[in-house]
Amino acid sequence: MFDSLNALLSQAISAIEAAGDLNSLAEAELRFLGRKGELTGAMRGISSVPAEERPRVGQLLNEIRQKLEGEIAKKRAAMSAAEISARYEREAVDVTRPGRIPHEGGFHPLTIVVREILDIFGRLGFEVAEGREVELEYYNFEALNIPADHPARDMQDTFYIAPGTVLRTHTSPVQVRVMEAIRPPVRIVAPGKVYRCDSDVTHSPMFHQVEGLLIDKGITFADLKGVLGAFVREFYGPNIAMRLRPSFFPFTEPSAEVDIQCVLCSGKGCRVCKNTGWLEVLGSGQVDPAVFGYVGYDPEEVSGFAFGLGVERLAMLRYGLDDIRLFYENDIRFLSHFK
Ligand code: PHE
Repeated sequence: MFDSLNALLSQAISAIEAAGDLNSLAEAELRFLGRKGELTGAMRGISSVPAEERPRVGQLLNEIRQKLEGEIAKKRAAMSAAEISARYEREAVDVTRPGRIPHEGGFHPLTIVVREILDIFGRLGFEVAEGREVELEYYNFEALNIPADHPARDMQDTFYIAPGTVLRTHTSPVQVRVMEAIRPPVRIVAPGKVYRCDSDVTHSPMFHQVEGLLIDKGITFADLKGVLGAFVREFYGPNIAMRLRPSFFPFTEPSAEVDIQCVLCSGKGCRVCKNTGWLEVLGSGQVDPAVFGYVGYDPEEVSGFAFGLGVERLAMLRYGLDDIRLFYENDIRFLSHFK
């Protein structure tokens, strides 16, 4: 009896030792210690052992059971530790490798320039107004003192949507809509898209303007010059030279175009300024009393000035670009310069 139990013990020990992974260890456990296992069978057979031997046999059986349980637990612990460290090694993250740099978006150069323009005029006390891109001929032309036979209405320049309805050719109709809606004082800037049937390296059928309008008691041409001078110095730097050149717009009288010293050649003369040393950046003038007539303002009581600047033109001069189409092609290599 004792011999066969000792044989069982050494069989079980070598089965445990031979187990190469957690599965075969569980099999060995089942084979000896399971409910139908060999040691369990021997324990059940204790009733057939003669009464005087029973205590010693029982004690030996318990010792064997404890020893096997101990061996199995030890081996299982060692195996799981090995398995965990193998897994750590497999799934290890190399924290010294360079990371992936996320793509960073940015604003479109025209957005940057419009925001800067609005910001400068905002600090001068101007509020932002908005009009509509599909506009009545009345606001785009008539109320701006541009009569029906004026060349600016020519079908070649203007996109007609329907009789009496156009894609606005400038942001000036916003002046009329604002003056219809509120009484003086008025101090607004209006950014937006405008449309003209025109296309080459410096002209696009859609482009952007920012309109400005300031109306109050006693506003003079000197105020126009002061405000636009302040803008130009903020936008291009304190040392930029500026000049007003007499011009004509049907809705302003007198009218002036504003030139700045060429930012590319500093006034010496180059291809961009056509050797004049000057660049035109905006149109402006004192609001014509005829326009006040359309909106019910009294020209004896109030006066003011308006201006319209071309956003693409300002942006091209700011960034030294010679082709307006770059703004609309959405070439990521171009856009990524403007982070
Ligand atoms: N609307 C004019 C243009 O598009 C610019 C302008 C605006 C001129 C306001 C005078 C006053 O050319």
